[in-house]
Amino acid sequence: MRFTTLIFAALASLSPTASARSVFAHFILGNAGSYTESQWQSDIKLAQEVGIDAFVLNIAPPLAGATSTQVASAFKAANGLDSDFKLFFSFDYLGGGQPWIASDVISLLKTYTPNAAHFKHNKVPLVSTFEGTSNIGDWAHIRASIPGGIFFIPDWSSLGPGGISARLGIIDGAFSWDMWPTGANNMTDVPDKAWKAALGSKAYMMGVSPWFFTNLPAYNKAWVWRGDDLWHERWQQVLAVNPTFVEIVTWNDYGESHYIGPLYNDGIPRAPNANAHPYVDNMPHDGWRQILPYYIAQYKSGGTAPFWYRLTAAAAGNNGGVTGNNCPSAINLGGYQAYVDPNTIVEDKVFFTVLVKSPATITVQIGGGAPVTFKATRVGTNHFSTPFNGQIGFVKICIVRNGATVLSATGAAIQAHPASGVTNYNSWVGSAST
Ligand SMILES: *[C@@H]1O[C@H](CO)[C@@H](O)[C@H](O)[C@H]1NC(C)=O
Repeated sequence: MRFTTLIFAALASLSPTASARSVFAHFILGNAGSYTESQWQSDIKLAQEVGIDAFVLNIAPPLAGATSTQVASAFKAANGLDSDFKLFFSFDYLGGGQPWIASDVISLLKTYTPNAAHFKHNKVPLVSTFEGTSNIGDWAHIRASIPGGIFFIPDWSSLGPGGISARLGIIDGAFSWDMWPTGANNMTDVPDKAWKAALGSKAYMMGVSPWFFTNLPAYNKAWVWRGDDLWHERWQQVLAVNPTFVEIVTWNDYGESHYIGPLYNDGIPRAPNANAHPYVDNMPHDGWRQILPYYIAQYKSGGTAPFWYRLTAAAAGNNGGVTGNNCPSAINLGGYQAYVDPNTIVEDKVFFTVLVKSPATITVQIGGGAPVTFKATRVGTNHFSTPFNGQIGFVKICIVRNGATVLSATGAAIQAHPASGVTNYNSWVGSAST
């Protein structure tokens, strides 16, 4: 009975760093002026489908009127869906021709931060801005006025990382709007790393955008920045920077051509001398959204490494009448292919695929044998295999980065012989993941 028991060791995840990362999309509420609740729900479902956790509602003053109405509609829609999708505010201090009045900010936050659909980080409602550096002084009072406080991540990009480091006492993190390259250059993560360094232990919200072109003279803007490779490259930079949050810019800013949501005709600017229809109509961006689940999974996952193998060498048992190929035999009546010895078809190896967000070293050890080392040099998936080489015992796989084991798992033992005497050609599959 030596081989009757397969011992499945528990998968041991050793990663201490898996924290709740989140991905948001910047939503221009002003472009949703005529949204119905069901239109809100339709957008929420599309966003949720691709892994976005919340819309950041960009709202400009005044609070009364369309802003109030649409905020109410958005929250009602989210509440009605009873999904995990969330909303929170980016108070736009430049978009309304006037800054936000602190008492309006407080009133809105008091109304909506207790709402189940309001995004909370560690149970504290997240609040953001678009600029507003002339009103920095308002925020101590705003924070103190909200029961339970706020998790405040303003976008005060115009201050730069240097300016933000002098204001760490009044923020919980920062969002940088610096996400398009200047001139004929590719975007890099150098600015992001500077923001992250300036923030120390505070949260960094990194901006990711696919494009930027605007031609709205009435709003004094007619310019283009390089998009091109940006959508892909920027997500790779997210993996390298590993921010606490990612904010996609945007869901629906048609006038600036960086929308990833569906075209919504009534949301496309049509003002005199500020008509975006000539460059937005019939220019869908949905394909950019469709790849998000993969980018987001890479960002959120600390890594994953499925590994699989048969539990004995193929020739360690009787083949039980199994043939390589579907060839004529006592069992395969009507077989139509040439006979091949089954044990020459399958390889006695441990196979594994490693998804990593930055290069890492992988070691695989069978029983008490020497660990074999592999280098995962690609961000994304890396595939390898290593032969049994006659070794038996538990299979241990470790992902190591900078000398520290970030993931490890131990899989079922490879046996010298199958317990029944007959080879099982099926695969045992385990996974090390966070
Ligand atoms: C910009 O990025 C693309 C894609 O990675 C690359 O092919 C190209 O060479 C880069 N251009 C410059 C100027 O670095």
